[in-house]
Amino acid sequence: ALKDNTIIVVLGASGDLAKKKTFPALFGLFRQGFLPRDVKIVGYARTKMDKAEYHKRATSYLKNPNDDPEITQAVEKFKSISTYVSGSYDEGEAFAALNAHLEEIESHYASKEANRLFYFALPPSVFVPVAKNLREQCYVTTGINRVIVEKPFGKDTASAAELLKSLKEYWTEDETFRIDHYLGKEMVKNLLVLRFANIALGAAWDKNYISNVQITFKEPFGTEGRGGYFDEFGMIRDVLQNHLLQVLSILTMERPVSFSAEDIRDEKVKVLRAIPPVAKEDTLLGQYVAANGKPGYLDDDTVPPGSVCPTFAATTLWIHNPRWEGVPFILKAGKALNEAKVEVRIQFKDVTQGIFKDIARNELVIRIQPSEAVYMKINAKTPGLYTRAMPTEMDLTYKRRFSDAKIPEAYEALILDALKGDHSNFVRHDELDVAWKIFTPILHWIEGKSGQRPRPVPYPYGSRGPKELDPFIQKYGFKRADAS
Ligand code: BG6
Repeated sequence: ALKDNTIIVVLGASGDLAKKKTFPALFGLFRQGFLPRDVKIVGYARTKMDKAEYHKRATSYLKNPNDDPEITQAVEKFKSISTYVSGSYDEGEAFAALNAHLEEIESHYASKEANRLFYFALPPSVFVPVAKNLREQCYVTTGINRVIVEKPFGKDTASAAELLKSLKEYWTEDETFRIDHYLGKEMVKNLLVLRFANIALGAAWDKNYISNVQITFKEPFGTEGRGGYFDEFGMIRDVLQNHLLQVLSILTMERPVSFSAEDIRDEKVKVLRAIPPVAKEDTLLGQYVAANGKPGYLDDDTVPPGSVCPTFAATTLWIHNPRWEGVPFILKAGKALNEAKVEVRIQFKDVTQGIFKDIARNELVIRIQPSEAVYMKINAKTPGLYTRAMPTEMDLTYKRRFSDAKIPEAYEALILDALKGDHSNFVRHDELDVAWKIFTPILHWIEGKSGQRPRPVPYPYGSRGPKELDPFIQKYGFKRADAS
């Protein structure tokens, strides 16, 4: 349940993440009446700003394209519950001043009890000092304290363990909500329902019926000025190790004993533990080059000259358990590709016996974005006076089927969960550790820790990816269906 008296503190309030994601999500929840009744939102950052300037910044990404008066009014109300405090991230006194501000707000609440939710929209270099200062200066004893933290959670197994250990000194696992925003996406949440609320799908969900699975992330733009950050992390850390692996774990885990956060996360950890580290033989790395009037990765001024950082990565994972032994799971992600798309494609095995031969395989496609959809490629009789099988689709496109439904933004869903104290869609410490163990050896190899750094293969900006991709996928048994 929500607590009427709640203060949400956004740390890093003048940064990009806060402006683009956190404030729009808070506003979305506020406008729809989902935030606690007497909620107040406090921004904190180093930049000195007066209230007007802060309000301008915090609302700069709120959308109101048609000047809807209802939205304009809601923006004004949102401003009226929003205040700002500036201060450093490493000085106790600055946080004491923040605390004084929070206490002042709370003194207007009728009851003494108030919850505080601290949202870290911060660079990782200040995670630990902020965690410490908040715990020492801004921790209430009359209500519940919670922190939301964002990736990157370290760079490999060892650094992630180190970070977890440092943060644990100040905040318990129960108080900590580690965001992977893919867990807030509607179609990712849908996986649990599709799998466990449909006996027909559930029955075919294993190595006996499934040939191969692809989880694909495509973006149509490059680093565009964000090269400094990206080059340090690369495609695997940016998307595969977190977002795509989360999708994989929900797709493949056993049925949880209950809906509880721990039961769900126990199953996710269990299946991830059955995955050995990615082998270099199962990896394809690419980097985009200039094409179609667009710059290559190395043309971005924020990228170090000659960088061999992959902007495209495909890796195949194997799950050693009775359900999945021998089924390849191909995770692939790239920047500067031909389209924006995130999808799961489950390809079933051939119909090998009986009266039909050379027919297309069944495929179940779950399109996470854009245009959420679930569709199944099936064979049906070609209409007419003869019997011939033809590939076609059973199509659940959300825009058509649920045309009135508003699909929540991932960040809205997750912030609401954190306010309620529900950990189901947040990353547990042991989950993080196993996820790093799967990718750390390949990351170290890519970074040249065991010899020469591998060179990514080039692919043109705006293409489908490296030309080596099709043979790579086919190697794992994927057969191109003739229907689109
Ligand atoms: C972030 C990555 O975690 O996810 C970005 O750092 C990426 O590089 C983004 O663009 C994708 O998120 P979404 O919600 O747009 O798919």
